[in-house]
Order: sequence, then C-alpha cells, then structure tokens
Amino acid sequence: MDKFVIRGGNPLVGTIRVSGAKNSALPCMAAAILTEEDVTLENIPQVRDIDTERRLLVSMGAEVKLGDRLLPHSTTISFRTLTLPEAKYEIVKTMRASSLVLGPLVARAGMARVAMPGGCAIGGRPIDLHIRGLEKMGATIVQEHGYLEARATRLKGAHLVFDKITVTGTEDLLMAAVLAHGETVMQNCAREPEVTDLAALLILMGAKIEGAGTSTIHVQGVTSLHGARYRINPDRIEAGTFLVAGAITAGDLTVADCNPEHLRTVIAKIEEAGATVDILGPYAVRVRSDGNLKAADISTEEYPGFPTDMQAQFMALATQAEGVSKITENIFENRFMHVQELVRMGANIKVDGRTATVRGAARLSAAAVMCSDLRASASLVLAALVAEGESILDRVYHMDRGYERFEEKLQGVGAQIQRMGNVFKTRNGEAAAD
Ligand code: UD1
Repeated sequence: MDKFVIRGGNPLVGTIRVSGAKNSALPCMAAAILTEEDVTLENIPQVRDIDTERRLLVSMGAEVKLGDRLLPHSTTISFRTLTLPEAKYEIVKTMRASSLVLGPLVARAGMARVAMPGGCAIGGRPIDLHIRGLEKMGATIVQEHGYLEARATRLKGAHLVFDKITVTGTEDLLMAAVLAHGETVMQNCAREPEVTDLAALLILMGAKIEGAGTSTIHVQGVTSLHGARYRINPDRIEAGTFLVAGAITAGDLTVADCNPEHLRTVIAKIEEAGATVDILGPYAVRVRSDGNLKAADISTEEYPGFPTDMQAQFMALATQAEGVSKITENIFENRFMHVQELVRMGANIKVDGRTATVRGAARLSAAAVMCSDLRASASLVLAALVAEGESILDRVYHMDRGYERFEEKLQGVGAQIQRMGNVFKTRNGEAAAD
C-alpha cells in the first residue's frame, strides 16, 4: 500500500493547476448509457473513481476509448449495445456513486440490477430518494439478495419533491427523466455545479431541461438522445484544497484552471481566517498568507453553502488559527474521522455531536497517521505540510480515489512530499521504500 512521506515547514509558492471535477465526470460518464452514439468527455481527471466507473460501464457492454498523447484527459464512451444492465457488488462496494447508473439504465434498457451500496466511513449512504423517485415515474422495484431490481417499459414524467437535498439523487433522476414520457418537475433539487455540468451535457445530447442549478428542474422527456462532446468543469474541491494549502503554509499560491465562481463560500472563509485572496480572472485565484491566521466558524451546507467536502481541510487550517473555531457538519453523520489523527499530530479539537471545537494555534508535530476517507486524507496532508518533522500517511489509496497526481502537483510548488511503495524507517530515522 502506498504512503506519503511529508516533511513540513515549506511555504507553497507558485502556480498549481486544477483537474476536471471527479463528481461531474462520474454522472457525465453514466449519461453515456442514454444513447447508442459516442459521448466524448474532455478534462476527465485521472483518478481511481473514474477507472472504477470505466470498468463498470465496460462490464455493461460499453466500449471506452481513452485519450491519446494530445488529449490525455479525454474519454469516448460508446454504448451501441447495452449487453448487461447490471452494476455488480464488487464494483459498487468500492464506489458508492455507482448508484448513478440506476436511472439511466431503466430509462434506456427498461431494467436495471444494481447492488445496494453499504454504509461508508462518513456515515450511512442510503439511496431511498433515488428509489422513491423512480417508483413515482412508474418503475417497479424489488430488493433481493443485496441487489435492487428496477423495471419499467417506459418511465413516465412525474412531480418529484425531494425530502432531502441529494446531489447524486438529483442527477440520477434527471437522467431517468430525460427519456421518460411527458414532463417531470423536480423540486428541492441539489444546486451543485456538478448537477449543472450534467444538465449541460444532457442538453447537448438533445434533452429538454430547464432550471438546472436552481432548486426546481423541469424536464420534457424525449424519445432518444444522440452523441455529444463536452468538457468537464474544474474540480472546485481540489481547487479549495489547494487554496487552504497556500493559506496554511504561509505561501503565495496561484490556483489555475479553476472556476472562482464555484469557490465563493470557501474563499470567504479563507479570507475570514486571515489569508488574502485575489481573483485573477475567470480561471485563477491567488492566495497569500503571512502565517497569522485567525479562528473562523464553518457550518456545512448544500451548495452554495460551505461544502462538506471541504470541512476536513478547513479543520486543518483552523488548527493553525489563533482562537476558537467551531466546525459544524450538517450533511453527513460521521464525518470527523480526521479529528483523532489531527489530535495525534498535536491539534486541540473536541467533538460534541455534529460540532468540533478547534482551539489554535497548535504546534503540530509530525506523526504516522492513517487516511480514512478521501477528504480526511487531504486534511492530513495539509496538517503534515506545517507539522515539524516528517509525517507518514498510510492508506493514501483513499486520496487516489479523487485527487490526480496530488503529490506531484504539490512538489511543483515546493512541498516536500514523496510517494513510497512500502515505507519503513531506517535506523537513522530516514524514511525508505522497498
Ligand atoms: C455527493 C458527492 C459527495 C458529497 C455529497 C454532499 C458525488 C459523487 N459525491 O454525494 O462528494 O460529499 O454529494 O455534497 O457527487 N440521502 C438520503 N437518501 C438518499 C440520498 C441521500 O437520506 O437517497 C442523504 C445522505 O445520507 C446525506 C445527504 O442526503 O446525509 C446528502 O447526500 P447526497 O447529496 O446524496 O450525497 P452523494 O450524492 O452521495
């Protein structure tokens, strides 16, 4: 298992580039199920979740062509025939977003067999809202042997009201609705930019959608969709992670190829914490800090609120800020797995229910720590970048699920971070790999 060895203390200086959004690429790849023609997606990040989705689509009969040297981040998916409308447990268990194929499979093939996702490190991840929506659109759903089987000759338009805002639930049902008979009105939808990205692709494929990016989406079903070419938007969570990296290391970092519009709440909180942030145009943001950070409270919310996917990284920043920061997690029930590891590095954090109280500024010292999920891993990297000494982060495969060449990008702006194959400590204390 790969590990990261990180020596803290270097300010990050220079320009760092953001990849395409994993959470946009996943539903956009699933949208290829809806047509027999080619769907070409550009700016696909090269991360493990994308490989998993590629395997999933191939297992259903897709032909997937990867980009070439000129366009390494493009992928063309062709679903001329859909041989097996099934998402097997072996794949679903490693990537919960696999439930995104449910809606498009029923819409295209009239049936889907998808393994039920289990819980995960950050809490239960039910898909009851996906199921309820499909039933309202006329699907019959049976749950057996850990699988969910959905059938419908042709889905019909419906009035769907989400009890709770769900990102992949909105995307899944949007993909079901575009080929349904008649009009679907979806209310209390997720407004995340990833939903807007998917809707933009579907519209290019011939779908009739209005209101994506707002809480009410109207869809007029069509009988078929065609191929399209679409460029995935930048990853706002990767960009936000780099902004925190610049602020926490007292650096001067330009985060390029991002969309500052999608980062408003994150930028506001980084400024409140004492760093200077300049928007350099439509695609770049610069962050500077003299190291004098101050406490700031955050409370995670659905977009455009502060993203839960940035909570762990912001907590690392809060450990270095003077004063008391209250961090409240409202989206997932158990998303404080990083706390104990940060405490092992010297942070002063107390958790009470959904709120973590962080007292800073703490002197962090390097330690061997364990990554528990994707964003928790990012927060540990950030803490290690300012800790005294050499930290070893275990289980960085969590990181590889969603960050492309993370250590290489950080090395490019001055971080001392190395990926190691099987690290052990030599007698003089230096990390080595075999
Ligand atoms: C997506 C993102 C993830 C992000 C999350 C919240 C992808 C691939 N993943 O996950 O990175 O952290 O949004 O911004 O885009 N819920 C239900 N029933 C459902 C569906 C969800 O109760 O049927 C609950 C969940 O348990 C959670 C909340 O709704 O408490 C939000 O979850 P949701 O928006 O669905 O998260 P994901 O789409 O899985």
